[in-house]
Amino acid sequence: MDRFQFLLCVSFAVFASLRFIFLMRFVSVDPQSYHASMKRITTVDEIPAKGMKFAYYEGPLEEEGILLKMRDGSVRAYKNECRHLPMRLDDRAPSEFFDAAKGQLTCNSHGAFFRADDGLCTAGPCKGSHLKDLPVTVENGVVFLDESATGSFFDV
Ligand code: FES
Repeated sequence: MDRFQFLLCVSFAVFASLRFIFLMRFVSVDPQSYHASMKRITTVDEIPAKGMKFAYYEGPLEEEGILLKMRDGSVRAYKNECRHLPMRLDDRAPSEFFDAAKGQLTCNSHGAFFRADDGLCTAGPCKGSHLKDLPVTVENGVVFLDESATGSFFDV
């Protein structure tokens, strides 16, 4: 390698490094924008034993979610939509649909049972399917939903 080739290689390396640093300014994750997609739902302490419902967006569509506090204190959230037909679990008979003692959700239309731990339908016409899981996290006792991961207009 002669002197010219060496300088060319060094110049290229310096240029590539500067370009990389410049581009990283645009691809780095801005903590502010990350938290902008995190919707506060409630606190863990405020979740009633029978669970609670909340509104959220899937793209432009407003949907309803179910927030549950499990016996070990963890939380789960599912879209309030049965897997048998596109109906809310409590469409036909609005009532308590979460039995915390059994860890079970019930669809009041045709009696499907769903395991609260993972949304699996254990009995009923949609046996074997799962409720749509919603991405919730708990930070300092506050429950957040990541609306950037709840779907879009084409994924509802
Ligand atoms: S709509 Fe839920 S079991 Fe039929």
